[in-house]
Amino acid sequence: MSETDTLLTLDNIGISFGGLRAVDGLDFSVQKGQIVGLIGPNGAGKTTVFNIITGVYKPTDGAVRWKGREISGLPPYKVADCGILRTFQTIRLFSGMSVLENVLAGQHMRTKQTWWASLLNTPGQRREERALRESCMEIIERLDLADVANEVATSLPYGVQRRVEMARTLAASPELLILDEPAAGLNDQESAELNHTILGIRDSGITVLLVEHDMNVVMRVTDNIVVINFGKKIAEGDPHSVRNNPKVIEAYLGVDEDDDEVAA
Ligand SMILES: Nc1ncnc2c1ncn2[C@@H]1O[C@H](COP(=O)(O)OP(=O)(O)OP(=O)(O)O)[C@@H](O)[C@H]1O
Ligand SMILES: [Mg+2]
Repeated sequence: MSETDTLLTLDNIGISFGGLRAVDGLDFSVQKGQIVGLIGPNGAGKTTVFNIITGVYKPTDGAVRWKGREISGLPPYKVADCGILRTFQTIRLFSGMSVLENVLAGQHMRTKQTWWASLLNTPGQRREERALRESCMEIIERLDLADVANEVATSLPYGVQRRVEMARTLAASPELLILDEPAAGLNDQESAELNHTILGIRDSGITVLLVEHDMNVVMRVTDNIVVINFGKKIAEGDPHSVRNNPKVIEAYLGVDEDDDEVAA
């Protein structure tokens, strides 16, 4: 794959919290159109890597590049403006707001309207509002949320809330969608549906980077997997090679309760 297809590059990044080296000399890249998995045991540094990519933390070493341009050190809203958008390990929805309102809120991150146009309620603004609403409804339908579009988001079952969060993030038109444990708390059927959702997102032209413990998701949807332990990369490759890598089995899969599913 050519250099121009590389969206995101992590170049030797590192960060310490006090004496703890949470991420240490990590290198990997994400190519356009890929679904990349970042896996590793609890506390391996996965969420910290996402926090570094999205500008929550500035790495103490190395650089994060987006299409060749360094973005490490930019504040989160500027990283989001590049088209890098994420969901959180713990769901964060606006309480008291409907599913549709939550998704609209996501989209407003990318609204071109100026504040004075919205005060004046210009025809341009009304047109844009209508277009925004329609494209939100499309996303809502795509994620199978149409039946609950007007329900209060936080009153819905956990698995549905996860889809709402994903819909809200999609509404901001990501080029790279970063998902932190999207299958957490889902039952088997929901997690199988999640696979279709993630593959559908990729087919719509969005590149995906995900952290996930559910091997039924990771092994079935990813093109490339990066495995970290104690903040360092211990393996990288396609699902098949990673699954059979002795270092991975020892560090991560070997201690997984669902080991037999992994080997299946
Ligand atoms: N803000 C922080 N201050 C201090 N230590 C932190 C901070 N954030 C993370 N850590 C530590 O860094 C290490 C990596 O944490 P991180 O949350 O990135 O792991 P993870 O791979 O996402 O784990 P999990 O699978 O449990 O979500 C852990 O030891 C954690 O306690
Ligand atoms: Mg985490």
